[in-house]
This record gives sequence, C-alpha cells and structure tokens, in this order.
Amino acid sequence: MSDDPKPPPFGLRRNLTSYGDPAFSLFLRKAFIKAAGFSDDALDRSIVGITNTFSDFNPCHGNVPRLIEAVKRGVMLAGGLPMEFPTISIHESFASPTSMFLRNLMAMDTEEMIRAQPMDAVVLIGGCDKTVPAQLMAAASVDVPAIQLITGPMLVGHHKGEMLGACTDCRRLWGQHRAGGMDQGEVEVVSGRLAPTQGTCMVMGTASTMGCLVEALGIALPGTGTIPATHADRIRAAEASGREAVSVAVRGTRPSELLTEAAFRNAMVVLQAIGGSTNGLVHLSAIARRRGLRIDLEEFDKIGREVPVLVDLKPSGTKYMEHFHWAGGMPRLLHELRDHLNLDAVTVTGATIRAVADGAEDVPGQTVIRSLNDPLKATGAMAVLRGNLAPLGAVIKHSAASPRLLQHTGRAVVFESVEDLVTRIDDPELDVTAEDVLVLRNAGPKGAPGMPEAGYLPIPKKLAQAGVTDMVRISDARMSGTAFGTIVLHIAPESATGGPLGLVRSGDMIRLDVPARRLELLVDEHELERRAQEWTPPCHLTEESRGYRGLYLKSVLQADEGCDFDFC
Ligand code: FES
Repeated sequence: MSDDPKPPPFGLRRNLTSYGDPAFSLFLRKAFIKAAGFSDDALDRSIVGITNTFSDFNPCHGNVPRLIEAVKRGVMLAGGLPMEFPTISIHESFASPTSMFLRNLMAMDTEEMIRAQPMDAVVLIGGCDKTVPAQLMAAASVDVPAIQLITGPMLVGHHKGEMLGACTDCRRLWGQHRAGGMDQGEVEVVSGRLAPTQGTCMVMGTASTMGCLVEALGIALPGTGTIPATHADRIRAAEASGREAVSVAVRGTRPSELLTEAAFRNAMVVLQAIGGSTNGLVHLSAIARRRGLRIDLEEFDKIGREVPVLVDLKPSGTKYMEHFHWAGGMPRLLHELRDHLNLDAVTVTGATIRAVADGAEDVPGQTVIRSLNDPLKATGAMAVLRGNLAPLGAVIKHSAASPRLLQHTGRAVVFESVEDLVTRIDDPELDVTAEDVLVLRNAGPKGAPGMPEAGYLPIPKKLAQAGVTDMVRISDARMSGTAFGTIVLHIAPESATGGPLGLVRSGDMIRLDVPARRLELLVDEHELERRAQEWTPPCHLTEESRGYRGLYLKSVLQADEGCDFDFC
C-alpha cells in the first residue's frame, strides 16, 4: 500500500452533490454533463468557471459574450476545461431602488455558485459599478483561486466639438438643461452621445475606480483594468486571463494570498491618487471585511494627505479612461507611486507589484499620469471627516469640490427624504440661498433603503438659473463617482438608525472645515439631547418586511463597515 496522501479532488470531482454515495454522485454528474456532448478527456481536466453577467439590461456588460469566448479559448489553450455559469448582473440605471441594495445579493449569489459547483479556479467578469465589488466579496469569502476580468470602459462621445463622457458630463449637461441653458431637443441629442459604445462609464467613476483597484489588489492581470471595452486588446486580455486561470488553478493561489493587508493599503494609495470614487472606499471596506480585515478610515485620510492626485481624469481632472490607458495605465501609475506602495505585494501571476511597476511603459509627452513632483492636485482625492454630525465618519471627495467652500459655515436647509427632496428642491418659495447647506437624511443604507446616489443634491432651480453651480451638500447617501461638487457623503451612523444627522433642523448652523477634517452642527448639546428624546425611526424600519428586503433591512451595516451584511 502506498503511503502517499490521496490527491485532493479536482475538476468534476470537486463539491459533489450529496447522495450518501460519492462514487454514485460522480457517476450521476458525469451522466448528466455528457448530455452536453463532453468527452471523458474534457471531463478529466481542471475546470475553470467563468461568470456570465451578460444581461440585456446591462449595456456596460454588452461585450461579455465575446469576453467569455476568449476566456474559454485561453483556458483550452492551457489544457483546462472552461465552464461558464450565470450570476446576477446589475446595471446602475436598471436597479430599483438602487444597485447598492442588490450588491450583497450578487455577492451571495456569486459566492454560493462558486462554492456549489466544481471549479478549480474562476474568472470573474464584471464591470458596472457594483458587480466587481460583489464578485470580489464573493471571491474573498469562498477563497477559490480567482482572476478578475473587467469588461472595460466605453470610448468617449463627441458633441459640438467637445468630448463627452458618462456620467460626469451627463450631470453637467443636465444641470445646464435645468438652468435653461440647453433646450429639450439638444438634451435628447446629447443622450445619444454620452454613452457611445458598450462598456462602463469612462470617467473616474466607480467602475473605472474598481478597474484600477483590481490591479492594485493584484487580483487582475497587470494592465488589463483600463483597456477600452471595444478594443482587440480587451479580447486578448480575456484570453490571457483564461490561460492564467489554469496556472492559478494548478498553483492553487487563493484570493486570501493576494487580498492581504499590504494589498489593501496599496489599493488605498491608488484610490487617493486616481481621484477615485467615494463608493470605492465603501466597497474596499466590504471586501476587506470579508477577509477579516478593516479599512482604517484614519489611515486612509492620512494617506490622502501624503499621496496627491496624479491622474488627470474627470471629475477631478479633464480626460477619460482611454487616455489613461494609452498613457501607460495602472502599471505606469504604480511606477509613479512606488515610494508609497508595498512593492513586495504579489499579484495573481506571481509577479510582485515591484515587477509590474518596473515593467511600466514610458509614453513620451503624456500628461494624463503625473509624477509626484507635478501632481494634478496637492493632496489625495478624499478626506475623512469627523465631528458631532458624523461620529463614525463621513467622506468628501475634495479633489472634485469647490476650493472656496471647503471651509464654510451655513444655515441648514433640511430635506427629510429623497421624496421630500424631489418635491421641494425646485419650489420657487423654498427658503434657500447659495450660502446655505443642503441637508438630505434618511438616504443611508437602511434609511432609503439601499443608500441611493442621491448625495449629489441638485442645486435648487432658482439658484441654478441665477448661475450658482455648487453649494455645500451633506447626507448619509452615496454619490456617483462621476459627480462633482462640495458634497459630504456616507455620514455614519445614518439618520434612520438614530445618527445625529436626524437631529438637524432647518435654520441650524453647520460648519464644514475640510482642512481640519470636521463637520459640526453648531447647536447646544442639551438641545440635541432634547431633540434625540423626540426622535422616532422611519416607519419602514418598524414594520415587518419579508424576503430579501427584510434580510437587507435587518442585516446591512453602516458605510464605515462597507454596507455588507453583519452575518457575512
Ligand atoms: Fe455601468 Fe456607469 S452605468 S459603469
């Protein structure tokens, strides 16, 4: 008898269905899969699962069928068996009430489908904002060897000689339309030019941010996070990801070996340097939490004081993702940031971040990726605020804010909910001036629910028509990474759970001091205690809720913990 330990099951032998007889389980599984025409040779290979997140409702994933075809080619060239399987797909504009409400459902779906089915590695194909975070949360939990493949950004649009991009320019031009500067006919024309190709939003919104972070985390192939969705290189990246997935399956490299403390710190550095989406911070917190790690908001803020914005992309700058890609993409940025990075962190190919940075392309004359000596902004993209209005923190993307408003004291104009905002913001009788602070509450993870991207409160129409383009706005909501303005987000704890944001009254004075990292409600402590006695939670949190909504309302955590479920 041999003393050799039994080799671990691989391929089809993994994760057998329980019938009380493993040999029968394998026999039955083979019998069924042979109905699809597979040979014994194919069924004896390592299996690489491929998530299929194509949906007619998700144009950001319109290229997924071609990417799957290329991933399969790569897997087969490397001697493996590719098996695609469907999971939930979420598009920002086709998810009600919000995509954030569904992110955790997609994470659970993806995790359990990877866990339930036999695969030695998985290629996760995602792109639109919440899909990549959901897939990474799943990968971190299930810990099966994984490679993230991004669908890639759209190409830019053009209108009247100007370059346009979803969705910074969607908001800017809609603002012009609201202010009377663009008529209905032109706004219809523009709607056909803002998103001219398949792929994800091509400014530095959440999708682009996550495309960069997956390279910083080392879980995507270097250089693949920024390739435009429509380019041949994107297809080749898919083939290479499939090929690499077979190697990863053989090596057995697990996400837990990549998603380390060092990798998350590198991701925080990159998030500050790219002028990334505030949503990126929430997602990073959720992914880290799945690994038993915590994104320290104070450390993130400290990094932001040391690491300036280097990438000239909207909304902090002027360019788009295709420009970033052709300027050298993430490897070039990692090269510029090397003094701030843990260069020994390992990527999914086995190469270190140092090797990726060393191999960066030098593009003569490019101005999109700046050096530390010539940054786009003097500091990083985001600051973390504290104060009596945000005991557990709040965040502001000050790289996309108006410098004159970063220290500002103003009178609160309070909106009780998103519905209240919609009803009253354009009321000509609304008592509001450009110096006031617009306050939105009950728009957090539980309050709305689903933490909508409503933090970009529109400028009241009468002020917009008078030429006001920015005001201080604060909320427990999120904001699209593509938006701009002096906007404080993710106030925690949120008002719906008794956070102090729920105690603000119109007419109170609020002080924002970004250099001092403070957000204060200038109301006497005793008065706040008195108001707290009178506070009651919104009705939907005291009523019975069933199904996923009930699970969500019961279990979702606050923004500082990534809005994951408490049991995940
Ligand atoms: Fe999908 Fe913007 S809507 S990335």
